[in-house]
Amino acid sequence: MRIVVTGGAGFIGGNLVHAMLGGGADITVIDDLSTGSMDNVHPATTFRRLDVRTPEAAEAIVAARPDAIVHLAAQVSVAASIQDPAFDHSVNVDGTRAVAEAAVAAGARRLLFASSAAVYGEPHELPLTEESPTAPVVPYGVSKLEAEGVLSEILRPAGVDFAALRFSNVYGPRQRAEGEGGVVAEFASRMTAGVNPVIFGSGRQTRDFIYVADVVNAIATALGADTALAAPGPNGPAYNVSTGVETSVNMLAEGLRIALRFPGVIEGAEARDGDVEASVLSPEKADATFGWRAAVELQGGLAATAAWFAQQR
Ligand SMILES: NC(=O)c1ccc[n+]([C@@H]2O[C@H](COP(=O)([O-])OP(=O)(O)OC[C@H]3O[C@@H](n4cnc5c(N)ncnc54)[C@H](O)[C@@H]3O)[C@@H](O)[C@H]2O)c1
Repeated sequence: MRIVVTGGAGFIGGNLVHAMLGGGADITVIDDLSTGSMDNVHPATTFRRLDVRTPEAAEAIVAARPDAIVHLAAQVSVAASIQDPAFDHSVNVDGTRAVAEAAVAAGARRLLFASSAAVYGEPHELPLTEESPTAPVVPYGVSKLEAEGVLSEILRPAGVDFAALRFSNVYGPRQRAEGEGGVVAEFASRMTAGVNPVIFGSGRQTRDFIYVADVVNAIATALGADTALAAPGPNGPAYNVSTGVETSVNMLAEGLRIALRFPGVIEGAEARDGDVEASVLSPEKADATFGWRAAVELQGGLAATAAWFAQQR
C-alpha cells in the first residue's frame, strides 16, 4: 500500500511510520519539522520537508500516487492556539483543506485525519461518545472540529472515504517533554533527570490516557478496513480512539515512579484554571465499525515509555 503521512516526523507519526514500514508499506512523509524531528523519520521513507499549506506539498502528494493519506500534521499546542488562533486556524483548517484537495487530485481512496477529544469541550456526560455535543472551548478544539467539516465538504462529493479519529491523551516513546509534551512525557523526563514532578491540583483529575502503539494500531486497522468509514450524517466519520478507562494524574505519576524507581517525591501545586476534572471517551464505535480496541494496559505502556526516556539520557 502506498501511503502519505503528513506530520510523519512527529511523535505519533514517527511511531506510525516505523510500525507500518515493518508491514511492507511504501511511505512518503511530508513534514515541515516545526515540532517534528529527523530522528523520527525512518530512512526507508521518502521524506519531503514541506508545509502542508503550500502548492509544493500538494504536488508531492499527487506525485506519490497514494492509496491512502494519514493527515497528522497540525498546530498541536492548546496554549499556542489561545495565543495565536489565526495561526492555529491556518495550519489546522487551511492545511487540512489543502491536504483534502490533494487527496482528491491524487485519486486516494481513503484519508484518515487526526482529530481530538478537544472537539467535545467541557464534558456533560461520561463517557463521551461520538454523539455527545461538540462545544470546543479552546481554539485548537475549534479548528479540529472545523477541519472535520472541511473533510466532509471536499471528500464526500469526490467519493474519497475518510474518518476523523478523535484521539484522547496519547503518550509513549518519541513524545516531546518540552513545550506541549503530554503530562507523561513531562513527568518521565523530570524523573529521569532526578527532578521531582509537580501535580497541579488534587491529582484526582482524570483523562483517557492511551499508549501510542494502540493509536498506531487504530490507524493501521482503519487504513485496512473493508467497510466505508465515512457513514452519512454529521457523526458518521467521527471515531473516538481511546481506552474507555479513566486514569487519574496521581495514578500516572505513581506508575512512572514505580517504572523508573524514582527516589524523589511527587510535589503538589495550586490547580490551574480551566482544567477539566474528568474525561473519558467510549471506543465502542471504532470497535463495532472496524474492529479495533486498545490493548496495552497502563502499567505496561508506562514501563515502555519510562524505558525509552531513560535511554535518551
Ligand atoms: N498527542 C496527543 O495526545 C494528541 C491528542 C489528540 C490529537 N492529536 C493530534 O495528532 C496529530 C499528531 O500529534 P503529535 O502528538 O504526534 O504531535 P507532533 O507535534 O509530534 O506532530 C505533529 C507533526 O506535524 C508537523 N507539522 C506541523 N505543522 C506542519 C505544517 N504546516 N506542515 C507540515 N508539517 C507540519 C510537525 O513538524 C510534527 O512533526 C496532530 O494532528 C494532533 O493534533 C494528538
